Amino acid sequence: MTSLFDSCPFGPFELEHRVVLAPLTRMRAFDEANPTELMAKYYEQRASRGGLLISEATVISPSGFPHHNVPAVYTPSQIRQWRATTDAVHAKGGLIYLQLWHGGRTSHPKLQPGEQAPPAPSAITPKGAGSRLPDGTQVPCEQPRAMDLAEVRSTIADYATATRNAMDAGFDGVEVHSANGYLPDQFLQDGSNHRTDAYGGSVENRARFVIEIVEACADVIGMDRVGVRISPQNPFNGVSDSDPAATFGYVAREMNSRKLGYLHVIEPRVRGNVDHEVGAAPVAARTLRSEFSGPLMAAGGFTRDSGNALIAEGGADLVAYGRDFISNPDLPERFRQNLELTPYDRSTFYGGDETGYTTYPAAT
Ligand SMILES: Cc1cc2nc3c(=O)[nH]c(=O)nc-3n(C[C@H](O)[C@H](O)[C@H](O)COP(=O)(O)O)c2cc1C
Repeated sequence: MTSLFDSCPFGPFELEHRVVLAPLTRMRAFDEANPTELMAKYYEQRASRGGLLISEATVISPSGFPHHNVPAVYTPSQIRQWRATTDAVHAKGGLIYLQLWHGGRTSHPKLQPGEQAPPAPSAITPKGAGSRLPDGTQVPCEQPRAMDLAEVRSTIADYATATRNAMDAGFDGVEVHSANGYLPDQFLQDGSNHRTDAYGGSVENRARFVIEIVEACADVIGMDRVGVRISPQNPFNGVSDSDPAATFGYVAREMNSRKLGYLHVIEPRVRGNVDHEVGAAPVAARTLRSEFSGPLMAAGGFTRDSGNALIAEGGADLVAYGRDFISNPDLPERFRQNLELTPYDRSTFYGGDETGYTTYPAAT
């Protein structure tokens, strides 16, 4: 029976185990969205031989910031400073993919070039979404502006540029963040996309944006190094869809036919960074398993045992862990030895110094 500790083919690589670090925003890039030495230490602590890390969501262009103090990958200095992280992870024999992020309407004029309204598929304010501003306050998102076709195309091109930049920074691949109500998810789901052009209306049109992003990234590094993260049936950041099974099933099939490197699916029992339904059975990856035959990664509320069970039944190939990996830097080894886990402290998730970031000790 396959378990978390069996190897797994992954694009051009072979992973030695299946315990993946989920992408985790930690808001410690204080100087012009530059990654830091402390971030390199944090990732190094979580790296393992043949293990995969996915970086925190990383902004691809100046209009992409949902919050202040998150890292980016579009200036020469940001690209250069990511090197400390990728070198540290590689020195431990691990792999690291960069998660590509554009917040779309989940932003605020104070975070936008020229303080204009944030770009979105349609001018619909996201309910319940907020942005962290440079002064440290958390404010509700305001009404965005609908992107014209030229901006849709230039944004897709920005993903390709960010992919090139990620390679220059030493990453092994990229993950397109199309989950949790950020820009590609806003296009995908019909509650946030009321467009009447080729990027709105039918599911084929709404999925065009993320498909074209994936193809643009693949033109740079090959499809086998590109992954996509989705969160079916998850209203985080105010998104909704009238027929999620049809929408996300279509996305999975289209990604399958293009031989996407991997598909990463978040369970609806977790919404963003909080539990919604503790103990609910995993449904998302299982549902899409029949549509996607490449590497399928599940995330959201998994333990060692439930991750092993999903892999054993073939419901997914890999399991990404978020909150437990924050407080257990050696999580794969703790799972391997079935050691006790250190509980996480939510108050240090976002911002601050090394406390609750690089201060959790390894047990092994
Ligand atoms: C502090 C924190 C930051 C997060 N940042 C991101 C992010 O940058 N990108 C993303 O796709 N998901 C993000 N998530 C969601 C996690 O990747 C993951 O899906 C979620 O925590 C559920 O997994 P878990 O139950 O193992 O924690 C974040 C979650 C937390 C707790």
